[in-house]
Amino acid sequence: MSEHFLVTGGNRLEGEVLVGGAKNSVLKLMAAALLAEGTTVVTNCPDILDVPLMADVLRGLGCEVELEDSEVRITTPAEPKYHADFDAVKQFRASVCVLGPLVARCRRAVVALPGGDAIGSRPLDMHQSGLRLLGARSEIEHGCVVAEADDLHGANIRLVFPSVGATENILMAAVLARGETVIDNAAREPEIVDLCNMLNEMGAKVSGGGSSTLTIQGVRKLEPTIHRVIGDRIVAATWGVAASMTRGDVRVRGVNHKHLGLVLDKLRTAGAEVTPEVDGFRVIQRERPKAVNFATLPYPGFPTDLQPMAIGLAAVAVGTSMITENVFESRFRFVEEMIRLGADARTDGHHAVIRGVPVLSSAPVWSSDIRAGAGLVLAGLVADGTTEVHDIFHIDRGYPRFVENLRGLGGVIERVGSE
Ligand code: UD1
Repeated sequence: MSEHFLVTGGNRLEGEVLVGGAKNSVLKLMAAALLAEGTTVVTNCPDILDVPLMADVLRGLGCEVELEDSEVRITTPAEPKYHADFDAVKQFRASVCVLGPLVARCRRAVVALPGGDAIGSRPLDMHQSGLRLLGARSEIEHGCVVAEADDLHGANIRLVFPSVGATENILMAAVLARGETVIDNAAREPEIVDLCNMLNEMGAKVSGGGSSTLTIQGVRKLEPTIHRVIGDRIVAATWGVAASMTRGDVRVRGVNHKHLGLVLDKLRTAGAEVTPEVDGFRVIQRERPKAVNFATLPYPGFPTDLQPMAIGLAAVAVGTSMITENVFESRFRFVEEMIRLGADARTDGHHAVIRGVPVLSSAPVWSSDIRAGAGLVLAGLVADGTTEVHDIFHIDRGYPRFVENLRGLGGVIERVGSE
């Protein structure tokens, strides 16, 4: 049988956990290395599968990439290749973030489109229309997104939705375009700020990172840099929610608590004592959590990536919670698995209503994406008996040392089976 987790519920999580660099930052920072000839070093890289996968994408583009501990060294040639083929990109969607840097550096990019995704359709229309406004032609041809530009120039671009990926691709193309680009309704996620900071260290002229208007003065050339990835707020919050669900006491380190303002407020509403700390935060939950309503929104709203954890919390809370998903259309598919674990949940369109029960009931369940997988493990921690969580390769893509970290907090989890 393929690898799966056995999670035995009932223990209260206690102790300290250190989170690594943010998955949703490191992959973009690695792509940004394409923008400068020479050796760029990214530190505080998380030990997750997506990092070596991204390294392979960059190798396919002619870079030399060395991974050692939490450091990745990327040496970009004077003329990178511009074609990221299907074999390289098929395993993870985030590889599409090489599109912007390739258009900027090579004036041409061919990036194979990865397959579908369990959380809903993820079109690239905003990425393409932004690049078109910068002067590129962009089409989908033979399963690839193709972009070509003789002259990349500044433009005023207003996104119809603050897409993280579109903001990043347009930003990374605009840094080497001629003149000024303004991106309105830009995504404001901390990972975008991290990327703006790294680009500026490389010699780019980007202002407004973290606000909804990014202004970029194009420059002719960027230089390599050494950059430290910000801590992973989604992983950090996963441990925070786990503490609340198990009525535990957990100190999370390695993250900026300001990146989790609303999330920590929600835990307080659930009855947790939440203390911000210099390098993280602490969550203590003494009683059964209280019901809390959540609506996912772009940052600084409640992150869609934490919606499965919110459902887990609601499933064992006192009272009824309403959860609204505003970012990815199919993310509620995972609720079926929660119902299998005894959650009293109903969904209708992008709303879910959950009536908390005192304890869930163990069952075999299947992860459909990284965050759903983590949400199911958290549910297993508050279920009676032993829950089998399958398709855990998803969890390995986003959570470094997941079993070790959870065990360190007193959770009962085992990885069993092999390919
Ligand atoms: C990133 C994160 C993901 C997170 C998401 C929202 C990475 C690797 N992934 O994904 O974990 O859940 O942000 O915070 O960083 N859309 C379009 N057209 C486009 C682009 C997006 O319609 O051209 C839609 C998407 O289908 C989705 C919404 O916009 O419904 C948000 O997507 P976006 O912010 O782009 O998410 P990603 O960058 O793919």
